[in-house]
Amino acid sequence: MNAKHPESLMMSHGYVPEWSEYSVKPPIFMTSTFAFPNAESGKQFFAEAYGKPTDGEPHGGLIYSRLNNPNLQILEERLALWEGAEGAAVFESGMSAISTVFLAYLKPGDTLLLSNPVYGGTHHFAHHYLTSIGVRIIHFTETTDLVRLGDELIASGEAKRVRLIHVETPANPTNSLFDLKGLNDLRLRIQDASLERCMYSVDNTYMGPLWQKPLDFGADVSIYSATKYLSGHSDLIAGAVVGSGEAITAVKTLRTFIGNMASPFTCWLLSRSIETLSVRMTRQTETAKKVVEFLCTHPAVSRVYFPGLESQGVRQVALFHAQCSEPGAMISFDVIGGESSAFKVLNALKLVKLAVSLGSNESLAQHPYHMTHADVPDSEKESLNLTDSMIRLSVGMEHPDDLIADLDRALNQIV
Ligand SMILES: Cc1ncc(COP(=O)(O)O)c(C=O)c1O
Repeated sequence: MNAKHPESLMMSHGYVPEWSEYSVKPPIFMTSTFAFPNAESGKQFFAEAYGKPTDGEPHGGLIYSRLNNPNLQILEERLALWEGAEGAAVFESGMSAISTVFLAYLKPGDTLLLSNPVYGGTHHFAHHYLTSIGVRIIHFTETTDLVRLGDELIASGEAKRVRLIHVETPANPTNSLFDLKGLNDLRLRIQDASLERCMYSVDNTYMGPLWQKPLDFGADVSIYSATKYLSGHSDLIAGAVVGSGEAITAVKTLRTFIGNMASPFTCWLLSRSIETLSVRMTRQTETAKKVVEFLCTHPAVSRVYFPGLESQGVRQVALFHAQCSEPGAMISFDVIGGESSAFKVLNALKLVKLAVSLGSNESLAQHPYHMTHADVPDSEKESLNLTDSMIRLSVGMEHPDDLIADLDRALNQIV
């Protein structure tokens, strides 16, 4: 096929109409199991699934929907295209993608280097579950000197225990950018010092696979809450991991036995959504830029957090130009007057819905301090600029003028 761009391939890659009565779109394969043509084939398919030597050429035969299903496979092959990845694994939620990656790459006694802030669920899983099975967490923030951190880890001997670096950039909800290349350099130093593999994963949910390509900066895997931009319609929960063949095999093997793959129906819905991913994200990003311009001039707004914005500081702007092609459509802003003012604004919004989640075609706003990040200790939130004056806005596909009018009316309640 001549087409090279993911946009062109989202409608066709990995599916041939003659497989299904010449149906242009893949049907939903609502089946738990697949009939083998004969016992010999069943033996061969299982051998392939368990990575055992087989007699003939690999066949990729279908066995059972916890291992493989056409809707899951088509979706995974298409998702991998956005980042030129060798493979992808789709999960029943973003959290199940993240927790499976952590469990695949970490064991008791290991150390996880984790950026801060991160999505509240990731923070909770790390601090409440991973620590309970003996994994040590070391946080780093956007201002951490990564070379110094590497020196300290190597000098103290801790580098030997660090088996995973996980970063969320831009970070939810502060939009802080972390240095993707700098983190890969740190991982390489850790590997040199420990003579063992240290994996590197990036939660790329905020940028979708369009505006930032973590694999190009050395990451082993990019992780997505597919509930967000990939779905784009607030009608499903899913997660995805894309990356090198070796990294994905480890994640998929664990997924097979945890059994947290996405269902055929969810995969079918997601395949439909990613056909319009580029159009949606482009439109949402253009609108977000206009909303940011408006917020920066409104007297009720004391600070706007948006990738590439000059007020984010020289280092943040440089990181934006080095690793993102667009700023995305997630905006956080502080209002004057603290929590009560933020609540007044949120309660006054009409077109923008007061709800968590993000990346959908309708605009959503929430209060991270008391909602998505409620479980993060207050002292930690304050040190990260995650204030009780902050509103997080996910810009959807409404007309920009209507969105700005809604925000203007709500913000005018507090000036
Ligand atoms: C950055 C980020 N990662 C992961 C998740 C978790 O995804 P899910 O809700 O699909 O489990 C979220 C959810 O809001 C998120 O914002």
